[in-house]
Amino acid sequence: MNGLYHLGELSTAMVERLAQRALELRRGVEPLRFPGRGLGLLFLSPSLRTQASFQRAAAKLGLDLVQLQSGGNGVWQLELEDGAVMNGTSVEHIREAAAVLGRFVDVLAVRAFSGGKDLELDLADPIVAGFRRFAGVPIVNMESALWHPCQALADWTTMDMLGVDRRAKFVLTWANHPKALPHAVPNSTLAMALQRGMDVVLARPEGYDLHPSALAEAKRLASASGGKLTITSDRNAVEGASIVYAKSWGSLEAWGDAEKEQRMRAALAHWCVDAQTMQRAGPNARFMHCLPVRRNVVVKDEVLDGPTSVVIDQAENRLHAQTALLERQFLELEMQSKGKRSSLELQEVRP
Ligand code: CP
Repeated sequence: MNGLYHLGELSTAMVERLAQRALELRRGVEPLRFPGRGLGLLFLSPSLRTQASFQRAAAKLGLDLVQLQSGGNGVWQLELEDGAVMNGTSVEHIREAAAVLGRFVDVLAVRAFSGGKDLELDLADPIVAGFRRFAGVPIVNMESALWHPCQALADWTTMDMLGVDRRAKFVLTWANHPKALPHAVPNSTLAMALQRGMDVVLARPEGYDLHPSALAEAKRLASASGGKLTITSDRNAVEGASIVYAKSWGSLEAWGDAEKEQRMRAALAHWCVDAQTMQRAGPNARFMHCLPVRRNVVVKDEVLDGPTSVVIDQAENRLHAQTALLERQFLELEMQSKGKRSSLELQEVRP
């Protein structure tokens, strides 16, 4: 393992192992400890769950933690462009920032959402890509413009915990929201459910397709797992679902154009998961959302506070899934450095 950018880059066997380990940790098994090793957390976008769960995971693993934030008294504003003449607001180039942090820690985790203005730039995922290019240490993506693999791993773990069948119906439904949100979570959720081999329905209004490159990746994973994808604009296509997973995202047709987005959403307020949706889904259906969630816009109180909602367990599993992921990553680093040490020791004893 060399960090984690997108869950689909791991083999399904590895994802299964990590999810099972996460459930062992949830049951109270103590993780391995790595004293003297360092983990960096760099938050260039806001967070509640990801910050808190990575901090706790670092403590459980005995890691030294370096945590940095953007804004105010946080890290300098980064320049991303190669060859830039830096006479504007950016103070430090990502080349130096990444390389320097890579000298202080053994693994670096980075959060940087999409800018939501320039689609081509967002598709290049420039900040996490820059850290992967220049840090010289494994990079864990804590949500980039395109992917949120730690959320996807926690969601996989949650479905294992609930005993959800690998072929069960999984509905990812678009939901209303006051703002156009990034695609990292829906991209990752869709890919994760198809990597599991599920019968996936992507329900979204016309104009709210995910990007063709994300759909192509989801289909690649589905063809390996036997998963099935149906795309519909029928928000009631939930019958027989084991999971109803709500998420809002912005329209690719209105990227960077808030007024157009508002016009497109004006007639979409009914895209909100309510008790009727869950009843239509059936008696085994559970409601999932990555949080934070806008109550009574994305989902009604009656669902979020009701017996079908698993969002708090889902959030708790962020901690266990990330502890399992980091444990694996640091174990591999230990094994690599032991390998190096033993070959050095061999050289020393050679005549
Ligand atoms: N789901 C999630 O990543 O939550 P935060 O944005 O609060 O970290």
